[in-house]
Amino acid sequence: GLPGRVRIHEVGARDGLQNEKSVVPTEVKAEFVRRLAGAGLSTIEATSFVHPKWVPQLADAEQLFPMVSDLAETGDVALPVLVPNERGLDRALALGARRIAVFGSATETFAARNLNRTVDESLAMFEPVVARAKAAGVHVRGYLSMCFGDPWEGAVPVAQVVRVAKALRDLGCDELSLGDTIGVATPGHVRALLSGLNEAGVPTGTVGVHFHDTYGQALSNTLAALQHGVTTVDASAGGLGGCPYAKSATGNLATEDLVWMLDGLGVDTGVDLGALTATSVWMAEQLGRPSPSRTVRALSHE
Ligand code: HMG
Ligand code: MG
Repeated sequence: GLPGRVRIHEVGARDGLQNEKSVVPTEVKAEFVRRLAGAGLSTIEATSFVHPKWVPQLADAEQLFPMVSDLAETGDVALPVLVPNERGLDRALALGARRIAVFGSATETFAARNLNRTVDESLAMFEPVVARAKAAGVHVRGYLSMCFGDPWEGAVPVAQVVRVAKALRDLGCDELSLGDTIGVATPGHVRALLSGLNEAGVPTGTVGVHFHDTYGQALSNTLAALQHGVTTVDASAGGLGGCPYAKSATGNLATEDLVWMLDGLGVDTGVDLGALTATSVWMAEQLGRPSPSRTVRALSHE
């Protein structure tokens, strides 16, 4: 069976933009977040409190977050932000962030490239971040990258992913997001990983999925995850995205493609597909190139 409702964790303003070469004006980012909220998205990842030299596109987090944080104060919209370490947590808490996400890796190569740490050193870096966030009543998501394949290490064994997933849970993460950072997963592999997590005591209800669409498998993978009981799905408006520290990473599953499928299946998301498509068309104009989403293209050329 399928869930009656899916919570979409919208990552367009963070994962979608972090890879853009030309710096998007802060006002445009704020408008993007507002339009996403207006289209009915209730969880909108706003930005990252990472080292500004590591992700120059998001170096304006201090300016951006206060421009949109009123959305979260009404209680209708959650605005999670990425935080790699205590310095990032301090910055996020100073602005009143109520949801953060740490981001670990299942592979050593990506941990080194993305966080300048080994896998275990990154977990040690997250430990005080999660503890302090939880003590402050802040919700913590734990991303786990390279859950299926890694551009340097190849296919990633399920047991290796399960170990780090359990470690993130043990730190106190409220939810996990399983990242197919480079978009190589296929549905059988998704089922195998979710089953492996279940056998290790990680319930499906605490797990979201985060697919990039490099090989066109993101929607199929999502359907396999929903059939397994997953109800939280990450997606990026217009299919924007990629990771600057993972070669061959392309955009995320497009939120419009996801909503088209879920609308067709009768699964509720709360998202207005017309308003969302208009937002992605507007954003594509700001970025100067068309959206890669098939659904955006189909609906905007009707
Ligand atoms: P490092 O160079 O090891 O940092 O980088 P450090 O701890 O040695 O500190 C060096 C200096 O940076 C210090 O300053 C710190 O204060 C400063 P100094 O004392 O020398 O003057 N610093 C900071 N400044 C501002 N904000 C901070 C911060 N931290 C340290 N938060 C670090 C380690 C983690 C900081 C770096 O590697 C980093 O920022 N990495 C972020 C990379 C990133 O954002 N990648 C993209 C997101 S992950 C992703 O996209 C995947 C995902 O979508 C899921 C998927 O698809 O799989 C989530
Ligand atoms: Mg990603």
